[in-house]
Amino acid sequence: MNSALSRARFAIKSYSVDQGYPSRRRSLVDDAKFETQKKRELSMVLNESIEVPAGLELINEVFSGDLPKTDARPSTHVVVTLKKGVEGLGQVLNLVETHRGHVAHLETRQPQAGCVHYEAFLTLEMQRLDLLEFTKSLTLEGLGDLRIVKEISAAGAGDIWFPSHITDLDFCTHVLTKFEPDLDSDHPGFNDIAYRARRKKIAEVAFDYKEGQLIPDADYTPDEVKTWGIVYTEVKRLAPTHSCAEFNRGLEILEQEVGYGPHAIPQLQAVSDFLKRKSGFRLRPASGLLTARDFLASLAFRVFQCTQYVRHPSNPDHSPEPDCIHELIGHIPMFANPQFAEFSQDIGLASLGVSDEDIEKLATLYWFTVEFGLCKEGSNIRAYGAGLLSSIGEIQHALSSKPSVLPFDPETTAVQKYQDQDYQPTYFLAESFLDVQAKFRDYVQKNIRRPFSILYDPYINSVIILTSPQEVCKAIDKLQSQISALYLAMQDFIFTKGFMKTIQID
Ligand SMILES: [Fe+2]
Repeated sequence: MNSALSRARFAIKSYSVDQGYPSRRRSLVDDAKFETQKKRELSMVLNESIEVPAGLELINEVFSGDLPKTDARPSTHVVVTLKKGVEGLGQVLNLVETHRGHVAHLETRQPQAGCVHYEAFLTLEMQRLDLLEFTKSLTLEGLGDLRIVKEISAAGAGDIWFPSHITDLDFCTHVLTKFEPDLDSDHPGFNDIAYRARRKKIAEVAFDYKEGQLIPDADYTPDEVKTWGIVYTEVKRLAPTHSCAEFNRGLEILEQEVGYGPHAIPQLQAVSDFLKRKSGFRLRPASGLLTARDFLASLAFRVFQCTQYVRHPSNPDHSPEPDCIHELIGHIPMFANPQFAEFSQDIGLASLGVSDEDIEKLATLYWFTVEFGLCKEGSNIRAYGAGLLSSIGEIQHALSSKPSVLPFDPETTAVQKYQDQDYQPTYFLAESFLDVQAKFRDYVQKNIRRPFSILYDPYINSVIILTSPQEVCKAIDKLQSQISALYLAMQDFIFTKGFMKTIQID
């Protein structure tokens, strides 16, 4: 069943818009906030429900027999065959509400081979008895059939599903409708039919992509290359006085090894290969702005979900949505830095399986560091956030006297209001990347709560859930040979090569 649910091929709908979000002008952080708000509003506790036996897929099997009672309102992935087409989706959602349920996620997809009906993939938060009644009502009203796909809960791992292997990122591609040129009249490409078709064609690559595949090259047009060249040239002009040294160094290496320059847009596969060599990061194509949870989860695996289309040519200096100019110029030189890559992965690992409230805070921290961070360089202030490094206007604004600049403090930064309609009124200044990382790790240790511990195993690109002391011992064993090698190397430096005078060892 799961293989049939190729989520990446779904025609994506936005949870937030479906739930009545007043505007599509929002961002990674806003989306996380909205989900939290909606879940609070719809949260309710009922006294009776029926527990579904795990591992069953068909609803008729699930609800047979005597089932124990519980107060929980668990999340369940279901697929509904829409017998009245997409037009009937509104009635299905009304029915969910009638049965005291909450739609935590929604996607639709076109009829699959051998089927004439559209399908909707939903994550429902609903008591079991209500889910049973909801299923009956769907059938009685001729709206569709329902199949349970997967229980989200995993033993010892909390109630929120998260990817545990890099291939699970194929299920983390949920795109928001924010700033989509087909839907947002404020988008500069809204009235440009040719641009919208082009944008859609390039996004198809991301919908079809599976982890491990090569990313197909995009056949960029001369106009797209021209837009890229305008931004690239300006970024290079400002770099010596506005961008941090790590960015400038990264861009220089990209020019030497990948052919970065104003006359061609680099292809994602070549950039991904480069990053793997430099910091272990890699790219996967994204079809637009992802949900905060999915986007942050990919960072845990050192995967950056990267758009491939180019912004509308009418405004080279600004794109209301992420585009490849922002990603390739703003983010990639920074991801090539091993220290910054490690910090980015830290944010991703911290996000796995945490509450919506914590996702919101982590997304805000990401916003004010990876996207809009400032750092000290001697007596100067420089930009290290991609949103600044790829925006000629905002990087100059950030380093002017207009905005307020506060010291980076995760407790404050995580709840700071931000601006995505205009330049930020507030930025956060770090002493260095080490400073950012150390403070962030301390913040996570003290503030982010989840009922399990995890460890990333880079050899198998997996997140290991540490559920017992034995699991922890196994993890320590794996590290033992590396620790021994490092210990021997240090002994060699101290006793053979005479470094003893300069090194203090506890
Ligand atoms: Fe970005």
